[in-house]
Amino acid sequence: MTTLDTGAVRYDPYDYAVHEDPFPTYARLRDEEPLYYNDELDFWALSRHADVVAAFRDAQRFSSSYGVTLDPNVWGPQAERTTSFLAMDPPRHTRMRALVSRGFTPRRVAELEPHIRELTVHHLDAVAAHDTFDFIRDLAGRVPMDVISELVGVPSADRDELRRLADLLIHREEGVTEMPAAGMEAAMTLSAYYADLIAARRKHPLDDLTSALLAAEIEGDRLTDDEIAGFLFLLIVAGNETTTKLLGNAWYWAWRNPDQRALPFEDPARVPDWVEETLRYDTSTQMLARRSQVDVPLHDGIIPDGARVLLLVGSANRDPRVFPEPDDYRLDRDTSETASFGFGRHFCLGASLARLEARVVLQELVARVADYDVDADNATRVHSVNVRGFATLPTTVELR
Ligand code: HEM
Repeated sequence: MTTLDTGAVRYDPYDYAVHEDPFPTYARLRDEEPLYYNDELDFWALSRHADVVAAFRDAQRFSSSYGVTLDPNVWGPQAERTTSFLAMDPPRHTRMRALVSRGFTPRRVAELEPHIRELTVHHLDAVAAHDTFDFIRDLAGRVPMDVISELVGVPSADRDELRRLADLLIHREEGVTEMPAAGMEAAMTLSAYYADLIAARRKHPLDDLTSALLAAEIEGDRLTDDEIAGFLFLLIVAGNETTTKLLGNAWYWAWRNPDQRALPFEDPARVPDWVEETLRYDTSTQMLARRSQVDVPLHDGIIPDGARVLLLVGSANRDPRVFPEPDDYRLDRDTSETASFGFGRHFCLGASLARLEARVVLQELVARVADYDVDADNATRVHSVNVRGFATLPTTVELR
C-alpha cells in the first residue's frame, strides 16, 4: 500500500507496490474518494462498481477516442493507430465492430475448442516430464498466443517470435511511463508482419480469420488492409496477455485457497466457476481509460471536459456494495455483475474465447494433476499500467 496512514489516499498505477497489491488502495478510494484526482499524473479515477458500470455505458460523455490506457505514447487522438476500434466512438466504432464481427463469429470461436485442447495437451506433454515448471513460460504464456495465431492464420514457425514481440510491447520499467524503444520496435515489426500476412491471404484466401476479414462486407462496405492489420495487432494486446494472466491468476489464487482449489479438482464441472471467480477476484485488465466530453458532476466534484478518467475494473469487482465479503475467493458466489469484460459498446469481443481457453486449459490440468504447489517467493509480476498478473510462476505438480 502506498498511502500514509494519516494522509489522504494516493493511487499511482505505475507504482510497483500497487502492482503487488492494489486492493487496499482500491478499498480506500471507494470509501474515501470515490471521485479521485491525481494531480501529478493528471487523471481522475472511478472505483465504485456503480460508477464504473455507468461510465462504461455512457460513450457520449466518456469517450474512447484517446485510447484506453494512460500510456503517453498511446493516449491521444492517434490512439486508434495502435488499438484500432477499441479507441473509436460511434459511428466509426459501430461500423468497424459490425464488419469485424462478420469474421470473428461465435462459430469460429467454438470451432477452436479442439485446437485449444490439442495445443494444451501438446504443451502439457512437454512439461509432464518435469514435475517442476514455470506455469507462465511453459503453459499459460503459450496457449493464448498459439490460439490467436491459429485463429488469425499465423504459421507455427512464426509463433515464438510473435510472442516475444508481444511481451516487449507491454513491458514497462518501474517509474517510466513511456513505452521503451524495444516496445516501439516490436510494434513496427508486428505491423509489418501482419501487412505481409494480409497480402498473402488476399492472393490465396484460407479458412482463417484474416481471410474472413478480407471477405467481410456490409452493403458494399469493406475493411481496408490497414484496418485489418490494426485489428490483428489489437488482438495480440487484447487477447494474449489478458488470457495468460487470467490462467496464472487462477492457478495462483486456487493455490492460496486450498479449500476452494479442492472443488474443481474433485469435480471438473466446477472449472467454469473457478474461471469466473478468478475473473472477478483478480482480473488481468485492472483499468480502462476514457476521456470526458463534457463537465461531468459526480459525488462531490466535477470531472472537467477533456479529462482522463480511469475506470478501475479491479476495484469495481471488489466493491462490497455488489459482492458480499469481496476479498474472499469463493467459487460458489454470484459473479454475474463482474466488470472484467467491460459493458456496453466496447464489451470484450473475445470474452467467450477467453472463457473457452481458460476452461479448456484448466480442465486438462485437473484431468492430469492431483495436486500442486507454487513457489511464491520466486514468482514475479508483470509491470504494466493496466495488465495485472504473473511474469513467472514456478510450480510443482503431483500427477494423478
Ligand atoms: C481474460 C481475458 C480478457 C479480458 C479480461 C478482457 C477484457 C476486455 C475489456 C475490459 C474490454 C473493454 C475495453 C473498453 O471498454 O475500453 C475488452 C475489449 C476487447 N477485447 Fe478483451 N479481454 C480478454 C480477452 C480477450 C480475447 C481472448 C480477445 C480476442 C482474441 C479479446 C479481444 C477484445 C477486443 C477486440 C476488444 C475491443 C472491443 C471493442 O472495442 O468493441 N479480448 N476486453
